[in-house]
Amino acid sequence: MQRFPPSVVLSTVLYGWAARVAAERARLLLLAMRSRRSVLAVPGSNPRFLEKAQTLPADEVFLDLEDAVAPAAKQEARKNIVEALRTGDWTGKTRAVRVNGLETQWTYRDVIEVVEGAGEHLDCLILPKVQDPTEVAWLDRLLTQIERTVGLEEGRIGIEAQIENARGLVNVDAIAGSSRRLEALVFGPADFMASVGMRTLVVGEQPPGYTEGDAYHYVLMRLLMAARMHDLQVIDGPYLQIKDVEGYRRAARRTAALGYDGKWVLHPLQVEAANEVFSPSQEDYDHAELILEAYEYYTTVERRGAAMLGDEMIDEASRKMALVVAAKGRAAGLRRTKRFTPPSAQ
Ligand code: GLV
Ligand code: MG
Repeated sequence: MQRFPPSVVLSTVLYGWAARVAAERARLLLLAMRSRRSVLAVPGSNPRFLEKAQTLPADEVFLDLEDAVAPAAKQEARKNIVEALRTGDWTGKTRAVRVNGLETQWTYRDVIEVVEGAGEHLDCLILPKVQDPTEVAWLDRLLTQIERTVGLEEGRIGIEAQIENARGLVNVDAIAGSSRRLEALVFGPADFMASVGMRTLVVGEQPPGYTEGDAYHYVLMRLLMAARMHDLQVIDGPYLQIKDVEGYRRAARRTAALGYDGKWVLHPLQVEAANEVFSPSQEDYDHAELILEAYEYYTTVERRGAAMLGDEMIDEASRKMALVVAAKGRAAGLRRTKRFTPPSAQ
């Protein structure tokens, strides 16, 4: 057996490790850049809606095979979706398909037909009603097999896991860590409310009788923590009163304030509201970029870890918060209108 000097072995190991770290950083960067402020639901059974969706400024469009499609229309919907992905113009949008959940008989054929038929035009699959990590692992494996069979780049298609019942919520940490393909956790309020027995039929609003606080606070925070622990995005679900845009805005502002990356939209009017609510304001974006620029100056030129920016003290924690706001602003296409001037130049 050929023997290599220890220095060669060490540098090969280090090189492999560095390459893996670089690949992982590239993946995280891509995720951070993939904006999901507005996630538009489009029934796969409706060719007119599949056409119309291409013209709307939603960050992500998901073509639905699950609850917006009647059982008798599922087969036809798969064909419509493959056709729409292959021939439509989805420029600038993340293209997703929601398959049926694993408690149905449809999931495997949904995945096989859509990915074999249009895998190169697809960014993500949404798996609904996820209850434990083995479900995501199953989808990951099936995707890998299809990718190898038809010659698609391995691992490129991502997964979003929808959390929609008590079992999914209790297992959410394990679900969030179950696959490298996972890009986002998504809250499904309608199924969730039904599954835990909440006494309401209005999806997206507080249940009648709950007059203080937010009945969903625990659920929303639980998802947020699990998602962030694994560097995933986290998306709020639908608001079904589609004519009530102010109501939508109010609900969206609450999850945006918590840190959510976006929310589902069911109507063109909601798209605009979501894009606005989940983007930082121009003022906040400018402020974040100023903090980053000033902090870079103070730590490198003046070698100070804490410094004053106007009347505000900034330090490493300020930089981390500013990074989040700046990343969201850049992803939303905002441009800086202010520059930092070092004290020596004032
Ligand atoms: C979405 O799928 C929901 O159940 O709210
Ligand atoms: Mg649902």
